[in-house]
Amino acid sequence: DWNSGNVIAEQVERIREQVGDARVISALSGGVDSAVSTALVHKAIGDQLTAVFVDHGLLRKGEREQVEQDYVASTGVRLITVDAADTFLGHLAGVTDPEEKRKIIGREFIRAFEKVQRELVDEAKAEGAPIKFLVQGTLYPDVVESGGGTGTANIKSHHNVGGLPDDLDFDLIEPLRTLFKDEVRAIGRELGIPEAIVGRQPFPGPGLGIRIIGEVTRDRLEILRDADAIAREELSTAGLDGEIWQCPVVLLADVRSVGVQGDGRTYGHPIVLRPVSSEDAMTADWTRLPYDVLSKISNRITNEVREVNRVVLDVTSKPPGTIEWE
Ligand code: XMP
Repeated sequence: DWNSGNVIAEQVERIREQVGDARVISALSGGVDSAVSTALVHKAIGDQLTAVFVDHGLLRKGEREQVEQDYVASTGVRLITVDAADTFLGHLAGVTDPEEKRKIIGREFIRAFEKVQRELVDEAKAEGAPIKFLVQGTLYPDVVESGGGTGTANIKSHHNVGGLPDDLDFDLIEPLRTLFKDEVRAIGRELGIPEAIVGRQPFPGPGLGIRIIGEVTRDRLEILRDADAIAREELSTAGLDGEIWQCPVVLLADVRSVGVQGDGRTYGHPIVLRPVSSEDAMTADWTRLPYDVLSKISNRITNEVREVNRVVLDVTSKPPGTIEWE
């Protein structure tokens, strides 16, 4: 029968065989799949692995700390963080088109990653071991969706861990290729990865950049980060994490509406809650959250996030809506 301990032992064996004494690089996104695949590879080959985490400035509250502190503490993975927020936000200035945003974020991600790769290769040369292996957190549904090819990174760019493209010159290590999300979570727990990471809902590679409708700026990111943190906290407190596939929180940055607070008129932005239930994100239904939870989230966001004076609920299934707004 399926047993996470067996899968781990099997994969550790396989990874060691594939890699030998070569060095390996892995892109951590903060998400479940890259966290678990990286931890598995680390278990197999230890410090032959270097994990790279690109902070593009589009992360949610606490995510960087979660990776740098909790994840590293629990796994012992050797981690390099790239501080790239200024670069990413610089290139995103003035950009409102969703596809354009995705392209810029994807491109800058590759640049940041390749820079680290070059530096590591230099360091490794002395030891005579250039890096040719890349860890990918490809899951079974990704494999099926992309036609089942093996050995190359032909995942739909949409689902790529951190958005790495096909043409990076690496041999792939994909220890999760036969697994479903719940199995990946079980393995992550077995490996001792903190629940806050293992139990995480899916979060897109382009991050909050595609949850701000309009131009992405630091101020707007702050607003969205605060609202998102409140929604996540209340959903967790209500014990609803298991029922929701994910709940994007979206800032309609170019929209303002009139409101009233105390004895003053406000003219603030709406925040959209997009809770969805799904098996695989291909189709989804909006989650019927309890009214008292919605009410709590709405009250807290409008009270605590000054620029937001309205919270609205997205009640669209997928199709016709996608899960994300961009
Ligand atoms: P949509 O919006 O297409 O999203 O219904 C389906 C699922 O994919 C996630 N998503 C992404 N994941 N990079 C990712 O790694 C991306 O560019 C990306 N865009 C969307 C989304 O959060 C949902 O789970």
